[in-house]
Amino acid sequence: MKAASTLPAGLPAPDADARAHQQAVEQYLSQRIAAADGGFLPFEQWMDHALYAPGLGYYAAGNTKFGATLPTGDFTTAPELTPLFAQTLANQVAQVLRASDSCTVLEFGAGSGAMAEAMIPALREHGLQPEYQILEVSADLRHRQQERLSPFGDAVQWLTALPTAFSGCVLANEVLDAMPVTLFCWDGQGELQELGVRMTQAAAAGAPFELAQRAAPASLRQILAQRMPPLPGYQSEVNLRAEAWVRQMGDWLKRGAALLIDYGFPQREYYHPQRTEGTLMCHFRHHAHAQPLIYAGLQDITTHVDFTAMADAALEGGLDVMGYTSQARFLMSAGLPQLLSSMSRPQAHEEKAADSATLASQAQTQTLSAVQKLLSEAEMGELFKVLAIGRGIDPPLMGFIGGDRRDRL
Ligand SMILES: C[S@@+](CC[C@H](N)C(=O)[O-])C[C@H]1O[C@@H](n2cnc3c(N)ncnc32)[C@H](O)[C@@H]1O
Repeated sequence: MKAASTLPAGLPAPDADARAHQQAVEQYLSQRIAAADGGFLPFEQWMDHALYAPGLGYYAAGNTKFGATLPTGDFTTAPELTPLFAQTLANQVAQVLRASDSCTVLEFGAGSGAMAEAMIPALREHGLQPEYQILEVSADLRHRQQERLSPFGDAVQWLTALPTAFSGCVLANEVLDAMPVTLFCWDGQGELQELGVRMTQAAAAGAPFELAQRAAPASLRQILAQRMPPLPGYQSEVNLRAEAWVRQMGDWLKRGAALLIDYGFPQREYYHPQRTEGTLMCHFRHHAHAQPLIYAGLQDITTHVDFTAMADAALEGGLDVMGYTSQARFLMSAGLPQLLSSMSRPQAHEEKAADSATLASQAQTQTLSAVQKLLSEAEMGELFKVLAIGRGIDPPLMGFIGGDRRDRL
C-alpha cells in the first residue's frame, strides 16, 4: 500500500483562498469517514466526494481546472488545445448521425464547453442542424457551459438524467477517467484487500487522512480473479462505475454510436506485472503526482481506462464494439490532415498587411504545436484511445479505417 508522508517535490502551495476551501472539504470528508462503517471510507466514495461533493468537490466548486496556462489551470484536454480536435471529430459524428437518421448529439461531461463550441458550427458545415445535448454532473461546470454556449440558443439543451431512449451520437472525452474507482492491493499472502481512507491516529496537521485496507468483498475478489493473478505487493484499481455506466448505455442507446475518448490501454497492459502502483494520478497546476489524499477538493484525481473492461461492459449491455484505435490514428483517418491543409491556404479576403501576416503566422504556429500534441506518440497520440460502441448502424466508421485495434482488447 502506497504511503505518503511528505508532499510531492515541487508541488506549488495553494493560496489562502484555496487553503480555506481545502479545509472545508477536509471537514466534510472527516464527517463522511466518521459516519462510515468502522471509520473506513472505501476509496471509491472518497474520490466521489473529493471530486463531486456539491459546492466542495474539485469538479463541483468554482476553480478554473482546464487551461494550458499557469497559474490557474490544472491540466488541459484535447478540445481545449485546439478547435481542430472537435472539428475533426465532427466528420465522424456527421457519419454516425446520417447512419442513425438523427441530428442529436449527447455529450457527457462537457467541461468548459469547448468541444460543443467548435463541434456545432462544424456539423452545420456538413449541412446538419444538430440538437446538442449535454449531461454534466457538476452544477458549476453546467453553469459555465450555459454561459459560453448561450450564442447557440435552443440548439443546446442540458439533460438532468440519462435519456430513456436515444438515437444519434454520444460523446465522452476524458469522462471515464474522472469516474471514482475502487482501489485494491494484494497483501503479502496474496489475499485481495480493498483500500479505503481513515483518519490518521493523531490527525496530524496537514495530513489528516491515510489509506487503510481491509479484506476485499467476495464480489471484488470474483471480478479480479478474471483479470489478473494475485501479485503480493501489487496495487491497482478497477473502475466499476465506468463499467456500469457503459453497460447501462445498452438500455437507452437505441440506434447510433458512442465515441469514448480517454487515456488508457487494454487489460493485459493495465494489469501488467510491472505496473505495481496502478495508474492513479492527481493534477494540481500542471504538476502530476500520485497522492490522492492531499489537497482535497483542490486537485483532480484520475485513473487510466481499462478499455477491455469497457468493451466487455458494452457487449454485456447488448451493444456492438465498432472500433478501437489510438487518438492519432483516429484523427488521421477522420480528416485532420485535410482540415489542416485547408486552414493553411490563404483566403481571398485576407489582409496582406505586415502585422496581420505576423498574427496569422503566430496563430499557425500555435495550431501546429497543438496538432503535434494531439498526434505525437510521446504526448497524446498513442496513450489516448478512441473506443466506439453502439447499435443499429452499419460499420465501418471512418475514424477506424486506418488501423482498427479491436483484436488487442
Ligand atoms: C476531465 S473533465 C473533461 C471535460 C471535457 N470533456 C474535456 O475534454 O475538456 C471530466 C468531466 O466529466 C464530468 N463527469 C464525470 N462523471 C460524469 C458522469 N457520470 N456524467 C456526466 N459527466 C461526468 C466532470 O464533471 C467533468 O466535466
